[in-house]
Amino acid sequence: MTEVDTAQDEQTPYARVGGGKAVSVVVDRFYQLVLADPQLAPYFDSTEMANLKRHQVQLISHLLGGPVEYSGRELRDAHAGLDISSGDYALVTQHLVAALTEAGVPDDIIASLGGTLVAVEPDIVSRES
Ligand code: HEM
Repeated sequence: MTEVDTAQDEQTPYARVGGGKAVSVVVDRFYQLVLADPQLAPYFDSTEMANLKRHQVQLISHLLGGPVEYSGRELRDAHAGLDISSGDYALVTQHLVAALTEAGVPDDIIASLGGTLVAVEPDIVSRES
């Protein structure tokens, strides 16, 4: 294996997707899709979207191995009382995967984020169906 190959193997997913700029593009598109979805939009009626996007960019960047700290609330606290169903959760996940796919994020990175989404579902969903 050449040195160049080794360097590429060691790149974080964050670097591979194109860093913070690329994550911001994904997050903007993600919330565009979420807010255009009549089943989901009402949840965000009183949400300060700039703040939410900033925290989502931090969280995803961190999950991708970027040099970024997440400064938002714990996911359980952020979603407490929102009465989010498992169906809503599936829809939000679909929109995130669509935004990642559109941005050309490699499949292995999407799959690994998908694993995290499955893991945090119990912190976010408070209602069946
Ligand atoms: C798919 C996995 C999800 C992740 C990773 C996620 C992540 C986050 C993050 C990082 C925040 C910001 C917390 C803060 O600013 O302190 C947040 C807030 C929020 N999330 Fe989620 N979320 C997810 C799913 C959902 C779902 C399914 C819904 C509703 C259908 C939802 C609705 C909201 C709302 C309304 C807020 C803002 C709450 C407020 O304004 O106080 N989220 N989420």
